[in-house]
Amino acid sequence: MLASPFPLQVLRDAKRNGARLAMISLYDAPTATLCCDAGVDIILVGDSLGNVILGHDNTIPVTVEDVVRHTGAVWRGVRASSRAQVPIIADLPFGAYATIESATQNGAALLRAGAHGLKLEGAGPAHLQAVEALLQMGAPVMGHIGFTPQSALRFGGVVQGKTARDAARLLHEAHALQAAGCCAIVLEAVPVEVAARITRELEIPTIGIGAGAGCDGQVLVWHDLTGLNPAPPFRFVKRYADAHALLSQAARDFAADVHAGAFPAAEHGWAMAESEREEWEQPNAELGTRSAESERKTSKLQSE
Ligand code: KIV
Repeated sequence: MLASPFPLQVLRDAKRNGARLAMISLYDAPTATLCCDAGVDIILVGDSLGNVILGHDNTIPVTVEDVVRHTGAVWRGVRASSRAQVPIIADLPFGAYATIESATQNGAALLRAGAHGLKLEGAGPAHLQAVEALLQMGAPVMGHIGFTPQSALRFGGVVQGKTARDAARLLHEAHALQAAGCCAIVLEAVPVEVAARITRELEIPTIGIGAGAGCDGQVLVWHDLTGLNPAPPFRFVKRYADAHALLSQAARDFAADVHAGAFPAAEHGWAMAESEREEWEQPNAELGTRSAESERKTSKLQSE
């Protein structure tokens, strides 16, 4: 099958048809294959990989190289799935779009790794310029406003837009990102009324996380929605499985089996053919002599 000339067509179609988009933030090949096969519409290689995969306290330490590596893995996973056309958005991490030059250079690295679009956080004048420069380079851009984890050091709390004034600022930012050419906007941790109004007013889709059902789509982090992350989740997370309990049990069972000598069993290994085993088990002086002789020859050759 030929790849679509515009992989992010799914965004335009969803806004036009009113179909709701399911996006998951994930970071590796097998999970990408699983999620594509399961019917997810878009994959985000989020810089949340800093917390979720690399064990950092926030997303600030994530580098472009980190996101490039995981984008490549996700691309291979999508390609191996039954829905190889599922688009991948890659996050430009903290500091990667501070200047137009760094935005285009780092954006190009992520597209080369397999991303079909890029996401960046914020809607200030420098962000809008970065969006325009990336678009000129040929990279679709998804905006991200509301709670933007890369600026968490600056924020006083998680939920943004709780006052009428702050909500108006978010609405203004959403319009500015659309005007700059964004193909969609993530709305994170904003009151449902604010997200619903932004969604109504925009011609591009909104994808919410903690922004209510009024958005055009929803995104969650894989480790949150599967319960792989055992930390108490934010209230906007719905856990669809308890993967942590399941996998902990598997690890406990493996360790107990090894300690008890119950693993591996006969079926987990290979046995010799009977005739070979009989020969092998005979006290065979000739075999031993031959190998000792060949060792002597080898060491003589090496010393010559
Ligand atoms: O990094 C990430 O996974 C994200 C989503 C939570 C939107 O930005």
